[in-house]
Amino acid sequence: MRLKFMLLFIMIALLVSGCNQIDLPLKKLPFTSDDSGEENQQPQEELPPENDPLSLESIFFNEIKEVDGKNVIQNTTNTMALVNNQYFLPESYVPEDLVRPNVAFTFGDEEAEKSLMRQEAADALTKMFTEAKNAGIELFAVSGYRSYNRQEILFEAETNRVGRDKAMQVVAIPGSSEHQSGLAMDITSRSINFNLDESYANTKEGKWLAENAHRFGFILRYPKGKEAITNYIYEPWHFRYVGVKAANVIYEHNWTLEEYFNEVKKM
Ligand code: DAL
Ligand code: ZN
Repeated sequence: MRLKFMLLFIMIALLVSGCNQIDLPLKKLPFTSDDSGEENQQPQEELPPENDPLSLESIFFNEIKEVDGKNVIQNTTNTMALVNNQYFLPESYVPEDLVRPNVAFTFGDEEAEKSLMRQEAADALTKMFTEAKNAGIELFAVSGYRSYNRQEILFEAETNRVGRDKAMQVVAIPGSSEHQSGLAMDITSRSINFNLDESYANTKEGKWLAENAHRFGFILRYPKGKEAITNYIYEPWHFRYVGVKAANVIYEHNWTLEEYFNEVKKM
């Protein structure tokens, strides 16, 4: 009788207290609907800018001056210069550190302007060709540095052939070609008779480049599906040196150089 009375007393006490003591342990059960998981959340640490792959020193951004209605790049020796049909190199710009990379060219040993690249890019290209060869991939360089005047000749010839609008999708307007920067190289292989065309993407050499160039600081500059951003047709042969850090980020995100500069923060 006494026991019954005590049990009844305990039940009434629990009801009056709103069952708080019973509720508490339930809230701690994981995966219940009101489990916010808050206890497992670590405060997000922000990376210091120098370790953040999406931060970039200000010296690598274009410095622009408007000349005759055109955006002209002032810091021309920037190895990350964004050169496209919005941002032009000055007509008079010739890189001062052009050298011939130690690679095979489609035109053999002939001395030619188009065999040249800026020192840093040339060293990276030499390394890339050597490593490719060690992996059984034989690459041939076709065309590197191109002067403003040479670009003018090529653009005019293409315009006469297919008209200005079509020419602009294949050949850059003089001043807006990466080839003038000394940081770009067109690359081909024996397997497509040393041509530069879309079929390069299906060769083992083209595939190797697409998957490995970033490790040496190069990007496939005009990718398939990004024509509306780059304003050029797919060019699986055109590789641009930007340095290893940016090339890795661009490769991992599947970005163009334009998209990269939209995303990175200035340090
Ligand atoms: N073919 C590339 C876009 C150039 O002319 O620079
Ligand atoms: Zn090219």
